[in-house]
Amino acid sequence: MALKYRRYVVGEIKPGMVLGTDALSADGKVMLSAGTVFTEATIRLLAAWGFDSAIILEDEAVGDEVREKRLSERMLFNAKYEETVSMVRDAFDQIRYFEEVPLKKMQHLSENALLTLTATPGALGYLHSLRDVDNYTFQHSVNVAIISGVLSRWLGDDGERMRDMVLAGLLHDVGKAMVPLEILNKPGQLTPAEMEVMQKHSAYGYEMLKKAKVLAGDVLAGVWQHHERLDGSGYPRGLRGGNILPSARIIAISDIYDAMTSDRIYRLKMTPFHVIKTLFENMFDKLDASMCTIFLNNLKDYFVGTTVELSDGRLAEVIFMDWISWDRLTVRTSDGECIQLGEHAEQKIVRCLQA
Ligand SMILES: [Fe+2]
Repeated sequence: MALKYRRYVVGEIKPGMVLGTDALSADGKVMLSAGTVFTEATIRLLAAWGFDSAIILEDEAVGDEVREKRLSERMLFNAKYEETVSMVRDAFDQIRYFEEVPLKKMQHLSENALLTLTATPGALGYLHSLRDVDNYTFQHSVNVAIISGVLSRWLGDDGERMRDMVLAGLLHDVGKAMVPLEILNKPGQLTPAEMEVMQKHSAYGYEMLKKAKVLAGDVLAGVWQHHERLDGSGYPRGLRGGNILPSARIIAISDIYDAMTSDRIYRLKMTPFHVIKTLFENMFDKLDASMCTIFLNNLKDYFVGTTVELSDGRLAEVIFMDWISWDRLTVRTSDGECIQLGEHAEQKIVRCLQA
């Protein structure tokens, strides 16, 4: 099967071609977003910014109509996502100023825009290309809402329970609005004293939300307990095992998955495959093993067929993921070579282009 992406040198790019992955500057800034349809002007810009090549979405296997439909679905998703993130940013400003969560607004967001985003096929894959360091806290809230909703659906939850998980994901970090900005946005490691302040956010969030007296118990527990770990190593209370409610276990998995796949100020983004490995390593003592298994199984299905960029610059399709060791996967390059990747393999995945 032909790969859906191909690298073109800038001179070969024609107007109408679609950029397959974000074009990033040397310092990681997004210069052109994935999905951009090239015009003469954007091709000139790309050359002026010093790019030698770009990855183009080809997908020859599908007709123009399907390609256009996918593209417009993707653009609709992106637009709704950006709008939601900016509303969450306003809500956080409001919380910081008035020390009160605009709950009606958050519930409305959760039941409308966020449920639509959660129901979009391919939503988890789309999130990987929508990263913006300045908006980290707000994007993270939106992402955790979407991932928690998707995970809840994978766990077989009904509509109401899933809606609660989306809301809990959206609200899980509202307490961060009470953390001083110089700590919240500190570019680098926090000192132990700063970490102590930061770790209060789950309790701050819970206290603010509890006052409203309208939220379901599992939403409140999701906020309060999302940093608790089954072996007692979490915070704020060091709860163990059965004292940590299922909603908090869902948020914990979503939170870890999103935090690790995001660009952080002080750490390069990891590919979903590294994250899968980390989740697998933590699932037996810290996280809910049966939920993690369902999450990982679904992710595996999701990522087989994904196009990735290898460390030698070649593009390849993931054709097999091992059930036993999650970091071992087999890819087929655009020139037909099958390579098994693993911890000691020469080739590594440097970027995930599409999921
Ligand atoms: Fe948190």
